[in-house]
Amino acid sequence: MSIYLDNAATSHPKPEAVTQAVLEAMTEYNANPGRSGHAAALAAARRVLETRERLAALLNAPDPMSMIHCFNCTDALNLAIKGSLRVGDHVIATQLEHNSVLRPLCTLAARGRIRLTLLPPKPDGFIDPEDVRAAIEPDTALIVCTHASNVTGAIQPVAAIGAIAAEHGIRYLIDGAQAVGALPVDVRALRCDLYAFPGHKSLLGPQGTGGLYIRPGVDLLPLREGGTGSSSESLFQPRELPERYESGTVNLPGIAGLCEGCAYVSEHLSAIMMHERELTSALFEGLSALPGVTLYSPREEAARAGIVAFNAGGLSSTQVADALAGAGIAVRGGLHCAPEAHRFLGTLRRGAVRASVGWANTFEDIDALVAAVKALL
Ligand code: ALA
Repeated sequence: MSIYLDNAATSHPKPEAVTQAVLEAMTEYNANPGRSGHAAALAAARRVLETRERLAALLNAPDPMSMIHCFNCTDALNLAIKGSLRVGDHVIATQLEHNSVLRPLCTLAARGRIRLTLLPPKPDGFIDPEDVRAAIEPDTALIVCTHASNVTGAIQPVAAIGAIAAEHGIRYLIDGAQAVGALPVDVRALRCDLYAFPGHKSLLGPQGTGGLYIRPGVDLLPLREGGTGSSSESLFQPRELPERYESGTVNLPGIAGLCEGCAYVSEHLSAIMMHERELTSALFEGLSALPGVTLYSPREEAARAGIVAFNAGGLSSTQVADALAGAGIAVRGGLHCAPEAHRFLGTLRRGAVRASVGWANTFEDIDALVAAVKALL
């Protein structure tokens, strides 16, 4: 890959330590963590625990055991949503959500099991927390909001929504797919009960990793039951965390890589944030100077994650993305699995081109993208 600007889909490249950790797990201690007592199994279990501890520290979670290893952010969101809801519940979510939130909720609503209110953002692309307050009903059981839109990068007022949820005693889930590792995340300050995140985006880990923070005291119905390596005499799922939600063999090589991704991000978060913010601003300014380009991301630097969504001239987003791919520049066109966000933007038919920066991008990458869009126009 010559120029990679699709980091919102998955980050590339990974730090060398991530790749090495995957290899080491597969060659040096390739055993099943938490099952057997031999040296390799113990080493594997230590690595899984170390990752949990690093994730907890990064998110300021009170207890590492409240960090559940999942297979990706979608897996974590499904556990949080389906594990929380009962027949008759009312749920508030937003039009900015990804299909990993919309599809589980809309399916439950279509089956008549829940009622769903989808809040539109204000014309500036941000949810108004007062709209959340106004949508609360006596049987509202869950509020779901994305931390940052995966289409526009707009950072949502998740702390203000958390305060409203806490005031009303309503369970609150944040989708951190575009935030963890790219922005400071403090689950206690956000007052959320559940925070879902991928391991393979800004945490720089391998694909097939992700997690769910569950605030201590919050109980979910597990999505999967099975072997946990603990309480094996019981025919029922243990109540203890993390086993309650981690049945079957975990993705040890992935988690080992994620451990090093977390270590890298924890050490460099301020520098990564500053670098990505400068790159995103250069991209936004460069594209906005081109006549014929329409931008959908917030103008204000501090209000957006490292994402710029745009369209160029009369071309469809996939035409632009394909042409850029032909020029050796990787971006994502289309709907980004977030159809309601595109309905809000008026781009449901055309989609948008999404360029998303990462820790390893350079200003030359940005210049190349702007020049390529200019040439296309
Ligand atoms: N959810 C990822 C994206 O936004 C894959 O591209």
